[in-house]
Amino acid sequence: MDNEQIVDFSSLDESVQELLRRAAEARLRAYCPYSNFSVGAAILTERDGQVYTGCNIENAALSPSICAERAAVPKAVSEGYTKFKIVAIVAHQQNSFTGPCGVCRQTLSEFRGSDGDIKVYLGKPTLDKVLCTSLSQLLPLSFVSYKEDSVVT
Ligand code: THU
Repeated sequence: MDNEQIVDFSSLDESVQELLRRAAEARLRAYCPYSNFSVGAAILTERDGQVYTGCNIENAALSPSICAERAAVPKAVSEGYTKFKIVAIVAHQQNSFTGPCGVCRQTLSEFRGSDGDIKVYLGKPTLDKVLCTSLSQLLPLSFVSYKEDSVVT
């Protein structure tokens, strides 16, 4: 995927449509009494197509709050799924697409698929139009460390 593009939901593969539906369902479970900004995320993992979902969970003390994407990640990783193929995100806004925050981009970057990337689909609650992009586009020149070629000798 070279450029981000906005497409009709119905033109997407059935597996992507299903992932977006799972993210939209997860959004309905968001606990966001402080912002009233609900977000749902669904991760399709690479190994055998397991899907893990998350919603944002806020806290009165604010800093313990967690984004939908980062609520889904530990569910996948703690079950042994560390390579992500696709992430679908649906936020409550109907008039614009909501991309993942910087912290979520960096968190997802840790779990790129074997092609070195993750496809990212951003939907709206009505699931009519979908913005298709990728983690590489959302997080160019991402931070990489502890790889053989970056070890200082
Ligand atoms: N939020 C997410 O769930 N994902 C993001 O990538 C950006 C922001 C949530 C956090 C907070 O509960 C609400 O949206 C408003 O910032």
